[in-house]
Amino acid sequence: MSRDTAQPSVASALHGNILVLTLDNPPVNALGVEVRRGLLAAMDSAADDPTVAAILLVGAGRHFCGGADIREFGQTPQAPALPAVVKRIEDSAKPVVAAIQGVALGGGLEVALAAHYRLALGSARLGLPEVLLGLLPGAGGTQRLPRLIGARAALELMLSGRHLNAREALDLGVVDRLAEGEDALAAGLAYARELVDSHAGVRRTRDARALGDQHLQREQINAAREQLTHKAKGLLSPQNIIRAVEAALDRPFDQGLEEERRLFQECLDSPQRAGLVHAFFAEREVLKAPETRIAQPRPIEQVAVVGGGTMGAGIAVSALDAGLQVTMIERDQQALDRGRGNVEKVYDGLIEKGRLDAAGKAATLARFRASLDYQDLARADLVIEAVFEDMAAKQAVFKELDRVCKPGAVLASNTSYLDLNAIADSVSRPADVIGLHFFSPANIMKLLEIVVPAKVAPDVVATAFELAKKLRKVPVRAGVCDGFIGNRILAVYRQAADYMMEDGASPYQIDQALRDFGFPMGPFQVADLAGGDIGWATRKRKAATRNPDARYVQIADRLCERGWFGHKTGRGYYLYAQGPRNATQDPEVLAIIDAERARAGITPRPFGNPEILRRYMAAMINEGANVVHEGIALRPLDVDITFIHGYGFPRYRGGPLKYADQYGLPQVLADIREFAEQDPLFWKASLLLEQLVERGENFDSLNHSH
Ligand code: CAA
Ligand code: NAI
Repeated sequence: MSRDTAQPSVASALHGNILVLTLDNPPVNALGVEVRRGLLAAMDSAADDPTVAAILLVGAGRHFCGGADIREFGQTPQAPALPAVVKRIEDSAKPVVAAIQGVALGGGLEVALAAHYRLALGSARLGLPEVLLGLLPGAGGTQRLPRLIGARAALELMLSGRHLNAREALDLGVVDRLAEGEDALAAGLAYARELVDSHAGVRRTRDARALGDQHLQREQINAAREQLTHKAKGLLSPQNIIRAVEAALDRPFDQGLEEERRLFQECLDSPQRAGLVHAFFAEREVLKAPETRIAQPRPIEQVAVVGGGTMGAGIAVSALDAGLQVTMIERDQQALDRGRGNVEKVYDGLIEKGRLDAAGKAATLARFRASLDYQDLARADLVIEAVFEDMAAKQAVFKELDRVCKPGAVLASNTSYLDLNAIADSVSRPADVIGLHFFSPANIMKLLEIVVPAKVAPDVVATAFELAKKLRKVPVRAGVCDGFIGNRILAVYRQAADYMMEDGASPYQIDQALRDFGFPMGPFQVADLAGGDIGWATRKRKAATRNPDARYVQIADRLCERGWFGHKTGRGYYLYAQGPRNATQDPEVLAIIDAERARAGITPRPFGNPEILRRYMAAMINEGANVVHEGIALRPLDVDITFIHGYGFPRYRGGPLKYADQYGLPQVLADIREFAEQDPLFWKASLLLEQLVERGENFDSLNHSH
């Protein structure tokens, strides 16, 4: 076996009496079938070779091992399975040492746990992140780690999926020692020689004793289960992780392994696993826009925002947190002071929570400048406009930017709905104009829609993707249309929710049904949070162009006429007498809804939660299909990521179009046709949906086409 083959492999090389096995499967040495085979074969030959006194496991390149090959999940399993490989390592009669640089995650850490001794380099990051993929450590991790470090610490790691750094791993007892430098081979060899010289012998993790105090361990397991009911409602894998650790406590090692296998398989077969794995790969695919392949980003160090309101200030904080220089422009001194205040408020909040000190705040704000003078933007590499949602206001700002900004500066707008082509065409350099649609609060929400107007230069698009990376956002490329990907789809399923409300479901029932599905909030809670006035203004603006034949629900208007805008006014669909966190149902709202039903001549009918979900999802999926069909989203997965990171769609369901695949596209189409019987104007099946059903394909078949 040789290290320079392109095939994934395990290279073996004898260094004196130490056999070095190098996992080699770029980029993260995932444990694909070839690597598993290689490891097993190499362990067998090491056992038979009298010149080998000990075995050292290392990873080629930057990492030890990123775990199981995630691409194999859902495929026919190929032998040897990882647990067999891991067992072979632990059973070895010769000492096995793992020298860990970079990541040892999931199956990668399980391999290291099966080794008899573990050494971590400074770059090491260890963890069992399977829970994030809807799985549990299925190669002995749930049995070995608790024996090594106790139930509480093991559960904390497995339930959070977080990574330990080298020092934490040492302190917890996951590794035996730290090594200086970054040469895993040299450090590992030195350690292995020392072990051989001192006749240290084998030391198996399955014999470790950290589960000794049964009573205490059981208490810790119960505490974890108690917490779970609050934090991870409806998720299978955290429950199964706890059950597996319970088995580690109650059963002999081999029986515990069997139980782990059973629980792992249950997770593997679950739609939650499929949804989470889809989200994992989709998050990486969205980074691959056509422009990022052909163009290099422009350098970005100095960023500016125009407008210091909700969004401008949030964007400024996001850029400051990424270490950038930020200038804020406002229209008058009062607004500027408010804008600066909005930025400072975020850092003061962190100080209050003890997550930042005054010196930290001062150091960050040293990179922040607030100004009334556009001339201060002359050196900015990127300007993000976040003034009122009004075309004339935005074009006026862009005119100023056109005048003062240096050639090559990227000119971006945070508009939610407006036509970016019209903004681009209002300046002398349309190729530099792009949409950067952040979500509120902009320093927290992960989604960044990168909206690509007709004339934008590819390197400007590439720059936007690079900015997203710097800001640790999840970028999704979107085409120009009313609402881009997210808000355009939102408008449609919100309408479906309004229709159900007028037809007989209460907003509280609708919200509950969607929370039960996994959204953190229902649509009416979101409306109260965002503020009813914003939607009201849009509806008034669009009233003249509304199709008079289309159904229009006036309930929201009735609430707004009373000044009930949601959190900010203490009532909206809900009452917030005790503050925004304490919503209660409002009988007066129900009375208004009843009156509106009567006015519209509707006899209310009962809705079951399954029907609420069917209608809501059908509207979302159908408009999602339209967005893909029109090329507004590159692929279905772009819609999925938009909803997971911008609209609270439950990640374990993989996004609306992944959910549609799992639900079955023929059934979605049948639902739409059924609903169309009452309202054919609203329920028009997307052509793409019809085509996919006709061809017997699903949305996922379109995910690999770019
Ligand atoms: N299997 C297959 N492919 C993987 C992978 C894995 N375990 N981990 C990463 N990759 C791929 C990514 O998809 C990406 O591919 P493309 O370049 O084609 O998009 C490439 O490797 C690089 O990954 P990142 O862009 O994420 O690189 P990074 O340097 O930012 O992060 C990482 C590296 C921390 C390892 C990160 O990729 C990661 O967290 N990976 C997942 C680790 C994980 O969850 N492992 C557990 C697997 S489950 C398991 O092991 C179950 C079991 O017990 C049997
Ligand atoms: P906001 O009303 O909180 O802030 C707008 C700010 O722009 C105000 O501080 C105002 O003084 C300033 N401003 C107005 N004209 C200006 C000018 N000519 N020069 C400099 N400053 C000027 O509004 P918000 O919510 O921050 O929205 C801004 C933009 O972001 C809008 O286009 C909106 O559609 C978009 N957006 C809003 C989201 C939200 O949830 N609020 C989400 C995503 C985008």
